[in-house]
Amino acid sequence: MDNGPSIICLLGFMGCGKSTVGKELAALTGAEYTDLDEYVTAREGRSIPDIFRDGESAFRDAELSALKAYLSEEHASRARKVLSLGGGTPTIPAARELILGHTCTVYLKCDWETISSRLGGGDASRPLASNAARLYKERLPIYEMARLSVDVAGKTPRQVAEEIIAALIP
Ligand code: S3P
Repeated sequence: MDNGPSIICLLGFMGCGKSTVGKELAALTGAEYTDLDEYVTAREGRSIPDIFRDGESAFRDAELSALKAYLSEEHASRARKVLSLGGGTPTIPAARELILGHTCTVYLKCDWETISSRLGGGDASRPLASNAARLYKERLPIYEMARLSVDVAGKTPRQVAEEIIAALIP
């Protein structure tokens, strides 16, 4: 890897494979893996649907505060790390600024047909899945701000992880 940030940060829409690719990438590189959704639920002591019952903005506040806590803890060490964001994390302007400034961002790009078949008719653990078609279109330009984009459709998580390594580690 170059001398840039030691945190590889995976972003992309719900169902694009951020968690599975993130775990694979961490295993292949010996990095420590963190899933921001899990980090949020551990800090809040509540599930994501439960936090959403207080409104989406309550979830976004919790998400931003978890990201800030993660980055301040992780900045203490230069060890390699992989962080998978929630699909909506980069839509929070302050979160976007933090990840673009302090991590190496990788967008897992996935076509709508694949995403919608993975999300099916809805997903109780993902409160925004029923608005997915609209959100998908709105968010594409935000995801495109990532330093690296990797097409994931038709590839295994391992293939995607290897592609990320090939692009980031000379
Ligand atoms: C969300 C995506 C979810 C989770 C929450 C909101 C979103 O994460 O953070 O339900 O706004 O797209 P995944 O992308 O891991 O499903």
